[in-house]
Amino acid sequence: MSSLLGSRIKVQIFGQSHSKAIGAVIDGFPSGIKPDMEKICRFMQRRAPGGSEITTKRHEKDEVQIVSGIVDGYTVGAPICAVINNTDIRSSDYAQLRDIPRPGHSDYSAFIKHGQFHDIRGGGHFSGRLTAPLCFAGALCMQLLEKKGITVGAHIFSVADVNDAAFDAANVTVSDLKALMDKELSVINDEAGFRIKQRITAAKNEGDSVGGIIECAAVNVPAGIGEPMFDGIENRLAAAIFGIPAIKGIEFGAGFGAAKLKGSQNNDEFFYTDKTVKTRTNNHGGVLGGISTGMPIVFRVAVKPTPSIAMEQNSVSLSSHVNTVLSVKGRHDPCIVPRAVSCIEAVTAIVLADFLI
Ligand SMILES: Cc1cc2nc3c(=O)[nH]c(=O)nc-3n(C[C@H](O)[C@H](O)[C@H](O)COP(=O)(O)O)c2cc1C
Repeated sequence: MSSLLGSRIKVQIFGQSHSKAIGAVIDGFPSGIKPDMEKICRFMQRRAPGGSEITTKRHEKDEVQIVSGIVDGYTVGAPICAVINNTDIRSSDYAQLRDIPRPGHSDYSAFIKHGQFHDIRGGGHFSGRLTAPLCFAGALCMQLLEKKGITVGAHIFSVADVNDAAFDAANVTVSDLKALMDKELSVINDEAGFRIKQRITAAKNEGDSVGGIIECAAVNVPAGIGEPMFDGIENRLAAAIFGIPAIKGIEFGAGFGAAKLKGSQNNDEFFYTDKTVKTRTNNHGGVLGGISTGMPIVFRVAVKPTPSIAMEQNSVSLSSHVNTVLSVKGRHDPCIVPRAVSCIEAVTAIVLADFLI
């Protein structure tokens, strides 16, 4: 099982949802950096569970203990080991799932691969809980990027049939992205945010769940970063973002919409401004030939509805080899999208920092 991301800054994620602790080892992070720990905590709280009516009732403080790599507030070039304790565990909720796999979750595929030796509690290593240390690593990398003037930010583009406004892909600014980070729900349009909450609550009351789309942008990424063919910015971002559980799709710039356009509509025409080449539109999403153009890198990610739902669904008993019915108990997010926003930002920051260091 590989839970390792990056080639120069390497982020190794460890733990399971109900193990004593989870964490990250970040190797290759430069020395002499003074991380703003308060800012990192604030970033992590945007993902932490139990914060509102529309997230799981599992309460985790997600306090990070730094075991190594930071001395007197400064990184020292040694691997940074960050540990987060799991404190609010109810493993009995999961006992039945060893025999009756949840449709849409990893219980069945993990059983095929690991048999009885899979840690089913809370989804084990497949759990969204593992994105907490990922967010720690991402928040650290964001501070590296900020030193280079680069900002990464994301918002809820849609939940079910409710849409937020979209980024102005050619003109999205640092302040647009920063404004999203102080909000309880990362949306551009607060009225849309209100309706998104209502939509999630309605699904929860029906014993069901909803999915959605997250839109992410990275601004001030210099032109010329990335490689053609297999090591481009799109390649690496896509591979890393699929490491976040429940992600089912990604599109850059105009994405699948580009397939319906003519070349004359899809091409982003170049122009000079202050000796810098820019484009007036950004259908290319800031990447051409795997290499950054200097325009904002913009992409959207599809998040599936939470698999664990209270509503009865057909499943099977793996021990008795019969068909049966399952209603999932326990504490689950009725929608993963709000909590996944910071996960997308974190992974984007790690990938870009890895390119730029
Ligand atoms: C932040 C976050 C929270 C999640 N919360 C839940 C949850 O409460 N219940 C659940 O069944 N799945 C949850 N998931 C999704 C599952 O972990 C995921 O669907 C499962 O591991 C199968 O992986 P896959 O959907 O990528 O194939 C969450 C994912 C993330 C990123």
